[in-house]
Amino acid sequence: MTRLATAHILLAVTGGVAAYRAADLASQLVQAGAKVDTILTEGAAQFIQPLTFAALTRRPVHTDLFAPWSGDALGHLSLARDAEVMLVAPASANAIARLSLGLASDLLGAVALSTSAPLIVAPAMEHGMFHHPATQSHLQTLRDRGATVVGPAHGRLASGAIGDGRLVAVGELLDAVRQALGRDGPLAGIRIVLTAGGTREALDPVRYLGNRSSGKMGYALAYAAIDLGAAVHLITGPVNLPAPAGIEVTEVESAAAMHQAVGDATRSADVLIMAAAVADFRPRHRQTQKIKKQPDTEPLTLELKRNPDILASISHTGLIKVGFAAETEDLLANAEKKLTAKTLDMIVANDATATIGSGTSTAIILRPGQRPESLPEMTKEALAQHILEQVAEIVTRNKSGATR
Ligand SMILES: Cc1cc2nc3c(=O)[nH]c(=O)nc-3n(C[C@H](O)[C@H](O)[C@H](O)COP(=O)(O)O)c2cc1C
Repeated sequence: MTRLATAHILLAVTGGVAAYRAADLASQLVQAGAKVDTILTEGAAQFIQPLTFAALTRRPVHTDLFAPWSGDALGHLSLARDAEVMLVAPASANAIARLSLGLASDLLGAVALSTSAPLIVAPAMEHGMFHHPATQSHLQTLRDRGATVVGPAHGRLASGAIGDGRLVAVGELLDAVRQALGRDGPLAGIRIVLTAGGTREALDPVRYLGNRSSGKMGYALAYAAIDLGAAVHLITGPVNLPAPAGIEVTEVESAAAMHQAVGDATRSADVLIMAAAVADFRPRHRQTQKIKKQPDTEPLTLELKRNPDILASISHTGLIKVGFAAETEDLLANAEKKLTAKTLDMIVANDATATIGSGTSTAIILRPGQRPESLPEMTKEALAQHILEQVAEIVTRNKSGATR
């Protein structure tokens, strides 16, 4: 269950061609478990019907500031009070101007002035409208007041022109909402460096030694950290997964590049979580030309050299270190050895063949001085949440001055 599952989101749709994409956004928020209240501006109702959102969210849609109040439902005041995040998507140039000026002439403006929920604005318009100094200055005013501006993306616009002004992908908006929801979480203000995926060790210009890591665990950890409010720096090997939008991402290939990136990133970090499957060995010599098939039947011999152990080599005072031990034998004994040898605060041990590339994992969590915690098989998302809750506990304990 992600943070979205218990969230109450206020979605404000304004008058632009991209209003149709807000229907998909509302649907995905509802599918993630969120309660969604929708406001449609007068402009938005020219492009899409309130009924679409009423059906998708299974809640009344709000269009009129002067609609009668009844019972405990206090119109714009109730919408403002209940919202945990206010998301304006798409945001027209006109709506952006009204928000920046603090006009309360319609329901959107009145709610925006009344709510204490974080505001996310996703502009969508033609290139010229977006780059106009008036729009830019209004957006800057909103940013200065603490709003998050997401996008716009570059690409094909409604006019057929190519430029800046497309509403960003729905996934990016969901990520922004998750970040806003987490901002007061137990890891708010904590900087977490997280590695994910496998590394590739070049043999020649076209071939490499790799492993089957999908990156699912590391990416699930990134989302779980965001949900608890952490600032995440994801250092990732090549994977087929989209990284969460709005976080710092460093893409690397080899173990050496990952080592360098982790060393740089942890200088200003509070927590390091190494979920990447880092190659233990690399070819002693990387061939500069493609290795040719030999005419004879002689086997090709590869000489391998040990890679440095990233997690063992990094130790700043106060840095909380979490490792993973994917083993094919003697799971507990090997994990315990790593916990001590690498001075870790936590290690997550699991069966390498069952977990690598899979959507689920059966893990044992080890912490110094504590009994191993055996977890039942669960999704990597659920395991990630469990791990990050423990990280939050360690952070809190360390802050309160206790030693481990
Ligand atoms: C066909 C058409 C498409 C439009 N598309 C956009 C758009 O993508 N972005 C935008 O900011 N305004 C767009 N406009 C202008 C807005 O609809 C107009 O400024 C309106 O007053 C916005 O209303 P609202 O801010 O209350 O939603 C469009 C207008 C028309 C007629």
